[in-house]
Amino acid sequence: MPIPVILDVDTGVDDALALLFAAAHPELDLIGVSCVAGNASLERVVENSLRVLAVAGAGHVPVAAGAHRPLIEPARDAGHVHGANGLAGIELPPAAREAEADGAVAFLRRTILEHPEPVTLVTLAPQTNVALLLRTHPGVVDNIARIVFMGGSAGPGNATAVAEFNVWHDPEAAAIVLSSGVPLYMYGLDVFERVAVPQDVALELAASADPRAALVGQLLNHRIRDTEGGESVYLGHIGDAGAVCSIVAPDALRTERLPVRVELAGYGRGQTVVDRRRFPGEDLFHGLADGWAEVEVALGIDDERIANLFLDAVVPGRAADAAPADAG
Ligand code: BDR
Ligand code: CA
Repeated sequence: MPIPVILDVDTGVDDALALLFAAAHPELDLIGVSCVAGNASLERVVENSLRVLAVAGAGHVPVAAGAHRPLIEPARDAGHVHGANGLAGIELPPAAREAEADGAVAFLRRTILEHPEPVTLVTLAPQTNVALLLRTHPGVVDNIARIVFMGGSAGPGNATAVAEFNVWHDPEAAAIVLSSGVPLYMYGLDVFERVAVPQDVALELAASADPRAALVGQLLNHRIRDTEGGESVYLGHIGDAGAVCSIVAPDALRTERLPVRVELAGYGRGQTVVDRRRFPGEDLFHGLADGWAEVEVALGIDDERIANLFLDAVVPGRAADAAPADAG
């Protein structure tokens, strides 16, 4: 039985790769997509998601619009990473349909509670929608198998020196999700930046006659300006798509169950503090430690295996080409 998944996205170049993978992999049943402001405005994220799903052949998957901004702070622009349209300037045909009428919170509630199996909720964006859902309809936790979230880091950040973008964009929302009691799986920067597709492969895909493969190639080829002199560099990261891959191939990741908390104040705002101590410290001895959630944190990844898993799903015929010839 395929695993029922909902993706909460801020599409976004790598969210697009995640949608393409989730729609294509036979072991996943993509039952819905909810959108939130993050990499681009909410309107743009909704339109991008609908357009990408059309290319993915998943025009039947419902899409819902959620939060226009984080719980407390204003939305911030990520155009320097994802381009002004959120898709690195790639222009896909306008969507032929609209988002669900009732909005992301109602949509998530209905889709989760009506599903016969517990649903895996995959958040690839600031967690505003899920925080609002948990506060509005706390009963949904009974039918959520787990929340797999791209966010946080056990090491350095990217939005700030210590905070990862999705958590930094809405730290209060992340804190609410961490305190939800739902089993949590953190696919943070420690693994997020490790999975890449070689540039020659991406260029070949971009020139493909198959629209889905061509879109994958174009998305992978989008260039990021480095922090030094404005040089553009090829990274080829599959990004958010790796979090979805981890559901299909959990044994390709090394994880540890660790206490995690979100910092809400000062320069550390948005940092996920991951307690990797081997021995208890003063705070534990003196009973001062609270507000920690137990999270399965991904710390290592078989990057080649995940990159191939991704490509095999989204490039027609690739898996069959690579299969060993039938000895009979
Ligand atoms: C996260 O931020 C966004 O730029 C990506 O889509 C990803 O979800 C990485 O920090
Ligand atoms: Ca994202």
